[in-house]
Amino acid sequence: MNMHKYEKVWILIGSATLLFFLIVVGVSAFYMGNQPPSCAVTLDPEKVREHQLFKEPGLTEIGDNEYQLTVVASAFDYDVGTDDKVVQIPVGATVHISATTTDVIHGFEIAGTNANMMLEPGYISTYTNTFDKPGTYTLVCNEYCGVGHHLMYATIEVVE
Ligand code: CUA
Repeated sequence: MNMHKYEKVWILIGSATLLFFLIVVGVSAFYMGNQPPSCAVTLDPEKVREHQLFKEPGLTEIGDNEYQLTVVASAFDYDVGTDDKVVQIPVGATVHISATTTDVIHGFEIAGTNANMMLEPGYISTYTNTFDKPGTYTLVCNEYCGVGHHLMYATIEVVE
């Protein structure tokens, strides 16, 4: 079989690129331990409110400038444990967020931060974020979930 020189070169480049990406993924997964976030923490979606994490959603201090924030999403609301849907977080605090939904898929994005999760019925989504900059952040739903989708939000205030 006669192969053109360019064909050989491109096969070599293609194979080398494939090998390179497999090595990157392999090192990242098996050596550095990177995994998709919170893939398999489950709960009964019909008994969310009976789950110990979500009995009383909201912010709880668990350590030195370390907090846990639990949020229950439902159409078309985030229960963050306050009547006015405002959570106040001290600046610099590390917040471990756990959230779930009682009905359909909702989004969970704290605009201006890297906190961005999908909330699926039956699963607990988790993310840890440190709030270094004071200000007002909006928690928005970024998965279309019904007619009230655009009304679904809460507010995070990072205060001194
Ligand atoms: Cu909830 Cu869109």
